Amino acid sequence: MLSPTTRLIANATLPTLPPMTESERTASYVATADEVGRVLLLFSGGLDTSVMCKWIQDEYEAEVVALTINLGQPGEDYDVVKQKALDLGAIAAEVIDAREEFARDFVTPSILANGTYGLGYPLFTALGRPLIAKLAVEAARRHGCDTIAHGCTGKGNDQVRIDGTVATLAPELKIIAPVRQWQMGREEEIAYAREHGIPIKGGAEQTPYSIDDNLWGRSSEGRWIEDLDHAPDDDVFQLVTPPERAPDEAQVVEIGFEAGVPASLDGEKLELVELLDRATEIGCRHGIGIVDHIEDRIVGLKVRDIYEVPAATIILNAHAELERLVSTIHQNQFKASLDRQWAYLVYAGLWWEPLRENIDAYMLSANERVTGTIGIKCFKGTARVVTRSSPNAVYDAALATFDTSGGLFSQNASPGFIELWTLQSRMAHRLRQSQGDKPG
Ligand code: ARG
Repeated sequence: MLSPTTRLIANATLPTLPPMTESERTASYVATADEVGRVLLLFSGGLDTSVMCKWIQDEYEAEVVALTINLGQPGEDYDVVKQKALDLGAIAAEVIDAREEFARDFVTPSILANGTYGLGYPLFTALGRPLIAKLAVEAARRHGCDTIAHGCTGKGNDQVRIDGTVATLAPELKIIAPVRQWQMGREEEIAYAREHGIPIKGGAEQTPYSIDDNLWGRSSEGRWIEDLDHAPDDDVFQLVTPPERAPDEAQVVEIGFEAGVPASLDGEKLELVELLDRATEIGCRHGIGIVDHIEDRIVGLKVRDIYEVPAATIILNAHAELERLVSTIHQNQFKASLDRQWAYLVYAGLWWEPLRENIDAYMLSANERVTGTIGIKCFKGTARVVTRSSPNAVYDAALATFDTSGGLFSQNASPGFIELWTLQSRMAHRLRQSQGDKPG
């Protein structure tokens, strides 16, 4: 039974915005009504994609095939999601477990590049979207679909990543993104869901956060997060224990790397998915990886995200430390700028841009010697490097020590080095002093 207000909203604002016509087309890949016969819907089972599942059938008179991708979203029941799609009238529903591919082909190159955008975002969503869209293209072809539908809004980065991937890999496919196009706010969506008997996860009483997660991290947006001066409410942290409630005993976790890729945890060799799961579990317990982040989106807007990235915090921290140890000062200086460029391309939805592959080739080369073990001490929200070991460390304790002189490093030679090293700077400084503020 609809409440009076809900009925009012439902009656007043049911989405009547018709599918796009030819003259309204804003991009060549955007589907007009007559082009849509069978739709591959990227289906999470949340409110948006559930409403979309029904809405597409009604508004386009099209068939819907639902596709759900498992990238390691914690606690998801994929059988339930699949059944929900079928209950909503999808002619088929597929679930693909892509965790291994995600870890191997997306997270791994990101680790090699210390992939972080804007000082704190380890790119988990940005890495997931091109894979999700690639799998959608393959499924659309398998199922004879002409169109791919997704639940992205018109304000975010994810639309760029998904549309960009589909348009790159499958120029023959069209795209619809109903949330970008329909005029439904959340209230209207709930009213629509009620009217069509679509179950709403967690009830409709409270607006949920907008969540995206996979095995490399979790983000929350919306609600109070949009008020920049509102400190995080604890209920947003569904993954990581708030540091104040983390155990009083520290835990040291040892991450072993082979050529830059995490290969063992506390001495035990593990497949990457398993290793990331364990790192997540340890990080969650110790309150590791909470990031309150202001971010510059591709479309120009700034946004605040609350991230929970326990595994990424531990692994990236350890990887960067090992890399610094086995590389020279020149390699270290240079790589940081390429890391940044790599992260920007990936953030900005250009996964398929050849420059990314060019940089990847460099990353592989730069990581050839990144083998060794880093110990990270996890304690109440911090993950601090405490031990390092590598056969490739460009480090010699006998040279570095304060105690001895002689050997390969002669302290007596240092003044001569300093005189030459600072020569141009000293000359330029003197010149400026003699000329005052008038260059000759
Ligand atoms: N700000 C992050 C990014 O652009 C996270 C986006 C999360 N996506 C979502 N649909 N909630 O990658």
